Amino acid sequence: MIIEKVEIENIRSYERCEIDLSKGITTLTGRTGAGKSTILMAIEYALFGSEGLNNSAILRRGTKLGKISLTFKEGNDTYNIIRTLKRQGKTITAEPSGSAIFKNNEVIPLLGRANDLNQKILEVLKYPSNVKAKELFETTSYTRQDEIRKLIEMSIEKRQEQIDKILMLSKYKDTWENLKDVINDFQNELLEKKTRLESESLIQKDIELLKQKIKDNAEKLSKEEREHNQNLQAYQTLSSQIKEIEEKIETLTKKRRVVDELKGQIIHLRTEIEEIKNSKESLEKESQILSQKIKIPKNKENLEEFKKKKMLLENEIEIFKQEKKKIINDFSKIKNLGEGKCPVCLQNVTLNHINSLKKEFEEREKLIDEKIHQNQEIIEKLLPQIKELSEAVEIEDKLQKINELIKEKEKNLQDQRRKISEAQEKIKVLNFDEEFLNTEEKKLKKFKTEETELLSKINAQKRIIDLLTKENKAMTNELAEKTELLLKMEKSKEEIKKLERVITLLNRLREDIRNIREIIRRNFLEEFRQEFQRKFEEIRKYEEEYTVDINLNYEPIAYTKDREEVPISNLSGGEKTSVALAYRLALSNLAAQISAIKPPEVLILDEPTIGLDKEDIKALNEALQNIGTIPQIIIVTHEDELKDAANFKYEVKKERGLSKITKVD
Ligand SMILES: Nc1ncnc2c1ncn2[C@@H]1O[C@H](COP(=O)(O)OP(=O)(O)O)[C@@H](O)[C@H]1O
Ligand SMILES: [Mg+2]
Repeated sequence: MIIEKVEIENIRSYERCEIDLSKGITTLTGRTGAGKSTILMAIEYALFGSEGLNNSAILRRGTKLGKISLTFKEGNDTYNIIRTLKRQGKTITAEPSGSAIFKNNEVIPLLGRANDLNQKILEVLKYPSNVKAKELFETTSYTRQDEIRKLIEMSIEKRQEQIDKILMLSKYKDTWENLKDVINDFQNELLEKKTRLESESLIQKDIELLKQKIKDNAEKLSKEEREHNQNLQAYQTLSSQIKEIEEKIETLTKKRRVVDELKGQIIHLRTEIEEIKNSKESLEKESQILSQKIKIPKNKENLEEFKKKKMLLENEIEIFKQEKKKIINDFSKIKNLGEGKCPVCLQNVTLNHINSLKKEFEEREKLIDEKIHQNQEIIEKLLPQIKELSEAVEIEDKLQKINELIKEKEKNLQDQRRKISEAQEKIKVLNFDEEFLNTEEKKLKKFKTEETELLSKINAQKRIIDLLTKENKAMTNELAEKTELLLKMEKSKEEIKKLERVITLLNRLREDIRNIREIIRRNFLEEFRQEFQRKFEEIRKYEEEYTVDINLNYEPIAYTKDREEVPISNLSGGEKTSVALAYRLALSNLAAQISAIKPPEVLILDEPTIGLDKEDIKALNEALQNIGTIPQIIIVTHEDELKDAANFKYEVKKERGLSKITKVD
């Protein structure tokens, strides 16, 4: 690849810039910060895009759209790459519609994916697809600031690392290290599997034991179940028997209640009979006494007549008394009147007349009194007769009543007796057997205790059966699990064998990879030595005091003409610079060779003079002019001295924050 033109718009410190390049040595000189490295960055960005270069470090601050165009020659063809950067808010992205590649002014069709352009460029540069393109470009063509001298001055380990990187051997080391982890993982897995397998014999024993237990358990269970069923049947029979007896007892008890009631009635009737008998007896006694007492008079029928007579007499007495009263009253009136006219008859009344009247009244009164006395005498005589007669009648009445009562009692007695015999008849009909009831009740009690016992037995059995069933289930599950485990173990035995093989192979592979790294390094060492010698000869056109060789550690060693070893650090600055440049160029070639690309045509050096003194820079100047195998060298430097070696010179300046490039003749 020979770079022919770089055009940029809104890139870092540039608003717009165009620079033509060609074979030969080109220098870009300018102060620090002028914008020199930006041109190199633009070349890298055009080739490899945002791979390793941040978009925001490329697009000029404060602008929305930036553009890079790179024109280069590869073989006989001219290529042009265009890339556009776009700012959208805070993000800056590569704009696919502004990206393109042209071959001899004809666009190469792209698939439109972001990666297609990069892929095409790799094809054009003939870079293998499995390398990091930017890294390869940097090891073969692009040397960053201050890198040249570092390579020969760094420690052995650091250099090894660097060379491994350039020769792309680090991947072997990485693989070697990664493989260790992979092997470790496998080994852990193996260990785990082996420990698990160790328990296999135990599991087999467990399984045998479990099978026996399950068998025993099942036997126990069927025995229990059999007994349980028998007991259940017995319980049913017993229950129906109990029911029967209970029914029997119920009817018997009902009967007993009736009988008891009847008996109670009988007892009651009997006491009633006793009472009736007693009262009858006393009545009879009374009647006897009365009948002895009574002497029925013959004139019993006269009692009424006597009574009537007595009443008549008494009435007469009453009338007499009235009469007497009237007489007395009349007389007292007359007495009070004295002499004069009679208020009644209006005749003249004389005292004689009154006296005669008095006599008359007195006689009348005496007559009435006599009559009353006569009547009273008669009544006096009547009274004892009436008394005697009415007493007799009274007793007779009483006796008659008593006799009636006795008759009634007799009737009662008969009634009660009849009732008793009726009740007795009923009892007889009921035919209640107390003893039978007793035995039935005893039987029931016995059966009931039997029933309770049987029930608790049945319940206990049920519990045992449940327990056994549960146990059985658990054991069956365990057996299934263990059997499965055993099966898995069989499989894992095979897996262990496989794993062991894989680990052995991986270990061998790992060893081989380590060896490969050593072998490649050794293989290339000879080639590197020769290439270094060639480059060293090329750069150093004049006679030197020392020869320089590369040892097994890729370390450059200087020798005097008498083959005396001299450390590189003892060499002069100029000598060191020649060694370093030759070393770098040889490495570039080696890297190209390893990646099977052709030797680089362009060498880009960014500030190669940093840390060099004036003498060194002069030596570098000469060395650069002596490089004959690399057609294009682009050097970025702030040192004016390097311009001496240049075929084309550019000045980079920054004015008012914007970079400008002018060609110097
Ligand atoms: N995104 C950017 N936008 C504008 N200026 C930038 C941007 N990035 C870097 N710069 C400035 O560009 C200038 C040139 O940088 P550079 O090319 O690296 O300088 P040198 O000439 O020292 O190599 C510097 O002053 C730097 O600060
Ligand atoms: Mg710079």
